[in-house]
Amino acid sequence: MNLRIGYGEDSHALAEGRPLVIGGVTVPDSPLGAVAHSDGDVLLHALSDALLSVFALGDIGHYFPPSDERYKNMDSARILEYVLLELLKHTQTFQIQNLAAVITLDKPKLGSYREAIQARVAKLLDLEQQNVGITFKTSEGMATGHIQARVTVLLSAALLASNKGRG
Ligand code: C5P
Ligand code: MG
Repeated sequence: MNLRIGYGEDSHALAEGRPLVIGGVTVPDSPLGAVAHSDGDVLLHALSDALLSVFALGDIGHYFPPSDERYKNMDSARILEYVLLELLKHTQTFQIQNLAAVITLDKPKLGSYREAIQARVAKLLDLEQQNVGITFKTSEGMATGHIQARVTVLLSAALLASNKGRG
């Protein structure tokens, strides 16, 4: 088995009247949510990009162009599921070891949603919750109209013969 690292990040502007969805969890009563073509889930977008990066498979915009009306208000869990299937085309098997995510958002405070987000992401990836690290940070007022996620993943994989040269 080979150990491989992945990294992804995503940002969205915030606006009134939009839902705030993080890791598949809708934060209730948030006055602001992500302006996006899909549901604007920065965590699942960054995670999906991190997974694609493990095998240098480009990014989610390549598979789900923002200009395509079919993806309007799309549940980002579907993007993640698609990406997981895409990875299986490039490995015989793979196991995500753990992931570490940092969400930067000034308001609202998210600490009380950490467990729900961990649980949802763990379920989507078929992982134990303890392998889903979620850190929340403010921007200290420097990016109040903005949400950002950064995600690293580590996975072990049995590479296909055609992929071995890349390692
Ligand atoms: O960014 P800063 O270090 O000031 O964050 C302080 C604390 O606020 C951290 O413990 C973090 O978990 C929490 N936090 C939060 N929700 C946010 C941003 C930060 O619960 N949206
Ligand atoms: Mg996004």
